[in-house]
Amino acid sequence: MPQLDGKLGIVFGVANKRSLAWAIARALDSAGARLALAYQGERFEKGVRELASGLRNALVLPCDVTRDGDLDSLFERVRSSFGALDLAVHAVAYAKPEDLEGGYLATSREGFGLAHDVSVYSLTAIARRAAPLMEGREGSIVTLTYLGGERVVPNYNVMGVAKAALESSVRYLAADLGPAGVRVNAISAGPVRTLSSAGVSGFVGILDRVAQSAPLRRNVEPEEIAEAAVFLLSRAARGITGEVLHVDCGFHVLGV
Ligand SMILES: NC(=O)c1ccc[n+]([C@@H]2O[C@H](COP(=O)([O-])OP(=O)(O)OC[C@H]3O[C@@H](n4cnc5c(N)ncnc54)[C@H](O)[C@@H]3O)[C@@H](O)[C@H]2O)c1
Repeated sequence: MPQLDGKLGIVFGVANKRSLAWAIARALDSAGARLALAYQGERFEKGVRELASGLRNALVLPCDVTRDGDLDSLFERVRSSFGALDLAVHAVAYAKPEDLEGGYLATSREGFGLAHDVSVYSLTAIARRAAPLMEGREGSIVTLTYLGGERVVPNYNVMGVAKAALESSVRYLAADLGPAGVRVNAISAGPVRTLSSAGVSGFVGILDRVAQSAPLRRNVEPEEIAEAAVFLLSRAARGITGEVLHVDCGFHVLGV
């Protein structure tokens, strides 16, 4: 695995040990990075602190990504503790449960706005605050997306539309931040059982379908997604930006 010794990173989206953000945090820690973990709110604090105690000297800080004040104070704490930043991981998404079943047609204006605020705008809000700390350090930002942003996946609905906007944001942010040497990429992960994915109606059926028909005839493991993230965040990927890398056992190549 590429080495990240001495690198300073921030990871958004650890809720529990099943979180893809947690798999990524562990892999970054093993590769030598020192991390700040940003958790959503009080409900998650105890669990995230327990997990973080197994990492090297991690900072654990609250941040609701829909609140500019939270983001400002978080990045101020990171600046005062770390002084700079090399890596940022955005593994955050939310849509109302009623918008993750039935048809997309029923999506309310409020549900559409909420899903896009939490799952899409937050990447831009984070990148804007991270970039100044990455100045002159060849910074790298990675977000997580899903095939439902490219194709219709039953019940994924507004989250699919949000992932399409997230992937487009990756390309625009890559163009904006490239001149400063900061790279922005996405991993399109295959389905993994987590708190968020459990909210998508019929998710277990998706896991079964992928295991039966993906070229590798199985589902992806969180560690495989995490190691791809370490690659994109490392110097090994220094020529790659604006990219969406599928880590899904090949499922996305299938036509039928
Ligand atoms: N699990 C999958 O099958 C899968 C597949 C592809 C992509 N993804 C993406 O991976 C990312 C991580 O999801 P996960 O599956 O690990 O589930 P998860 O539930 O463990 O992580 C989602 C995180 O988003 C955070 N979050 C939600 N609203 C927030 C807010 N307002 N402020 C701050 N944080 C907030 C939650 O606290 C949680 O930590 C998401 O973007 C998801 O869409 C997941």
